[in-house]
Amino acid sequence: KDNAVYDYFNRPLRDLRISVTDKCNFRCTYCMPAEIFGPDYPFLKKNQLLSYEEIERLTQIFVTSLGVQKIRITGGEPLMRKDLPHLIEKINKIEGVEDIAMTTNGSLLPKFASDLKSAGLKRVSISLDSLQDKVFGEINGRNVSVKTVLDGIDAADKAGLKVKINMVVKRGMNEHEIIPMAKYFRERGHILRFIEFMDVGNTNKWNLKDVYSKKEIIQNIHQVMPLEAIDPNYTGEVASRYRYSGSHEEIGVISSVSDAFCSTCNRARLSANGMLYTCLFASIGHDLREPIRSGASDDQLKDLVEKIWFNRKDRYSLDRSDSSKTRKKIEMSHIGG
Ligand code: GTP
Ligand code: 5AD
Ligand code: SF4
Ligand code: SF4
Repeated sequence: KDNAVYDYFNRPLRDLRISVTDKCNFRCTYCMPAEIFGPDYPFLKKNQLLSYEEIERLTQIFVTSLGVQKIRITGGEPLMRKDLPHLIEKINKIEGVEDIAMTTNGSLLPKFASDLKSAGLKRVSISLDSLQDKVFGEINGRNVSVKTVLDGIDAADKAGLKVKINMVVKRGMNEHEIIPMAKYFRERGHILRFIEFMDVGNTNKWNLKDVYSKKEIIQNIHQVMPLEAIDPNYTGEVASRYRYSGSHEEIGVISSVSDAFCSTCNRARLSANGMLYTCLFASIGHDLREPIRSGASDDQLKDLVEKIWFNRKDRYSLDRSDSSKTRKKIEMSHIGG
């Protein structure tokens, strides 16, 4: 049966992205710049985080009564949270969950990949922005080597998880890495997705001039390895897909800036402290932790979320204008990618 709830623009709620921590062991310049996320940054305290039991309960309500089918675990870096496979196990037991994926920087996968797989995780999206240590070390802000992430990719692969690679492309930062990355992951049979640099949060000094667009990315690759567009796997897929002509190998481009995909956006985001956000660029969230901790019933929680979704009018990337500069937004590490 389908309990889908629809928003103001008739978009169903299908995908719940759960951030389990706002901490990360990297300091990517476009996400958690080190000069802002320093030793004194007020990260969430343990008692502010939703417990695994609370996350499980909310997920159960979203899936059973609100039509959610896909779960994605994010952060910060989700593997910084203790005992993550335990949460995956709980979510995997909920009837109606069709897909559980995780977005990660990959550094801790050698340690956790096989436990995650046994717990029921199906897929991982691993971030890597360059194959050169010097470039990647500067981007990740902690001098983490490329090999660290490649080892994580390897571990995920060996454990039997499906792997996709995410590469944020920013002009002047790593556009020269597009072709090497494309070739490398084509040879290894992993889908690489190029992500346009986005104006999430307020700290990454975003500027439209720094956006290396989908069109430029595709042209760049097409000159070396011809591409053809292919249909989405499902309605509302974030990445537009291309395949190398005459092959089954594919890439994706996530064009939040130059070609927005809000019209089919079916994603809700739950932050680690239990705020529900109906857009990646939201300026306000809706507190679900307070009602949970003051004894709300499942029905009351369901009604609350249903009302929030019913009133949802977000389509930030379609309406993006100068409001980008003045509007106070939530940081990516808090809301989850
Ligand atoms: P699949 O389930 O494999 O299709 O993955 P996905 O593309 O939904 O997940 P992933 O976390 O790998 O998404 C890649 C990136 O796309 C995210 O990290 C974000 O940068 C961006 N993204 C995902 N959803 C949205 C969205 O709703 N709006 C915007 N603007 N960007 C998004
Ligand atoms: N623009 C585009 N992508 C971003 N990510 C983080 N911050 C940004 C940004 N400003 C990406 C990460 C990772 C995913 C969680 O989101 O690289 O792949
Ligand atoms: Fe950490 Fe991912 Fe943000 Fe980089 S993009 S700082 S790895 S959460
Ligand atoms: Fe969805 Fe907001 Fe992203 Fe548009 S900008 S696709 S509404 S999360």
